[in-house]
This record gives sequence, C-alpha cells and structure tokens, in this order.
Amino acid sequence: MRSTPNIVILTGAGLSAESGVSTFRDPNGIWAKFDYRDVATPEGFANNPIRVHEFYNMRRRLHATVKPNAAHLALARLEQRHPGVTIVTQNVDALHEQAGTKNLIHMHGEMMKALCARCGTRHPWHGDLAIETVCPSCARPGGMRPDVVWFGEMPYHMERITELLSRAGHFISIGTSGNVYPAAGFVAQAASHGAHTVELNLEPSSGARHFRESLHGPATEIVPAYVASLLAQQTHP
Ligand code: OAD
Repeated sequence: MRSTPNIVILTGAGLSAESGVSTFRDPNGIWAKFDYRDVATPEGFANNPIRVHEFYNMRRRLHATVKPNAAHLALARLEQRHPGVTIVTQNVDALHEQAGTKNLIHMHGEMMKALCARCGTRHPWHGDLAIETVCPSCARPGGMRPDVVWFGEMPYHMERITELLSRAGHFISIGTSGNVYPAAGFVAQAASHGAHTVELNLEPSSGARHFRESLHGPATEIVPAYVASLLAQQTHP
C-alpha cells in the first residue's frame, strides 16, 4: 500500500447479511419475494402507497433490532487508525454508524429517516409511516415517505463521491453484487484515476473482472482479516 492513500470503501447488502438483514439478489433475497417495481419505484408508490409503506415499515422494524457485525466493526477500526477513509454505502440500515464509523455517505438514503415530499425536509424516523402521517415541519399529511432512493431516482451525494473516487489511492468494494449503477461503475472510475481496486465478497460479483485483487468469503471473516493486513502494512511499510 502506498503511504496513507485515501481509501474509498463501497459497501452493499452482503456486509449486513450476517447481522440478519436480507440481501436483495441472493436466492432468498428481498427481490425474490417482492417485485422492486411495486415497492422501490416512484410509480409503485404513486400506485399503491399503502403497500410501499407496509414494506418499509416491516424493514424499519427489523432494522431497529439488528446489531453491527465483525465486518462493520473492523471498518470503523480502520477509520480510527488510518487517515483518509470514507465509506460510501448503498445500505439503508444504520449499522455503520452503530459500529462507530463517522465518515459515511448514504448514497441510497436511510431507513431511519423520513422525507416530506411536500416541503423537502428530512426527519429521524423510528416508527411506522402511513399516508396519514403528518410532516413535523409543514404539518401536512400525504407527503411523508421513507428517505430512501428508489429505482429511477438520483442517488445522493454523487458529486462528492465522484470527487472522492478521483483522489482514491485504494478502492474497496464489499458485499455488493455490482448490478446497480452508478455504484457498479465506481470501480472503473477509481481505477481510471490509478486506485488499487479490491473486491471482498462472498463470491465474484458481476464486475469482478474490474478488480485487481479479490478475496471471497463471508464478510465477518474476510473484512477483519483484510483490515488487519492494511493496518499491519501501515505500521510496517
Ligand atoms: P445484492 O443483494 O445485489 O448483492 C449482495 C452481494 O453480497 C452478493 O454479491 C452476495 O454474494 C454478497 N453476500 C451475501 N452474503 C454475504 C456475506 N455474508 N458476506 C459477504 N458477501 C455476501 O445487494 P447490493 O449489491 O447491495 O437499491 O444491491 C445494490 C442495491 O440494489 C441496493 O442498495 C438496493 C438494491 O435494489 C435500492 O433499493 C435502490
């Protein structure tokens, strides 16, 4: 590893799988049980807001009970000991924060926040949402939705992410299948600026060929091991 390069880490659902949060595209994943067009698009919400609220209420209740695993904790440790680490997560759970990560970008939004489509304000949200839910800011009902990015919507903080990728010395992708853009394109972006690229995943992802280095296995095993190797290189260059 070059001396203290900026490290950008992209995380996906596989990171939280061993905490008990379902992934999306595995055989028992969320998209095997629900049609994403019904529950994760603006059109699905317009057609049937009750169904969409029920889907996210169920997931929000689950997310309130789960705990960070050894992989989340290892990434928080890396940030504490290595300058210049940013985690860009596609996950809408709060497990990175709970593990102690500070420098974090939620590019697909956050389950524990609600967004008022009428006045644009965001609010921490731990209970259920319904059509009748009144916005704490504008006091109007009918506009409250989960603060998550749906298919067809622009992911959050893209300018900042693009800038980080252009300065990254090291790009690490963890627990993501590489099916959803723009995140799936980050490896090529980082590599085009000279970053060393690494994939840590249960199995080779759709974009596996773009990575210079790969480690396959459960996140709770391979992430702590990889973090330990990075920190050892920092101590003994
Ligand atoms: P996916 O479900 O597409 O992929 C999860 C990846 O994690 C797969 O490649 C699995 O092999 C891997 N995996 C599963 N268990 C693992 C474990 N214990 N350790 C390590 N890896 C494991 O999830 P994402 O790539 O995160 O977006 O999905 C990206 C986006 O698609 C999500 O943010 C969501 C979804 O639709 C929206 O809802 C907008």
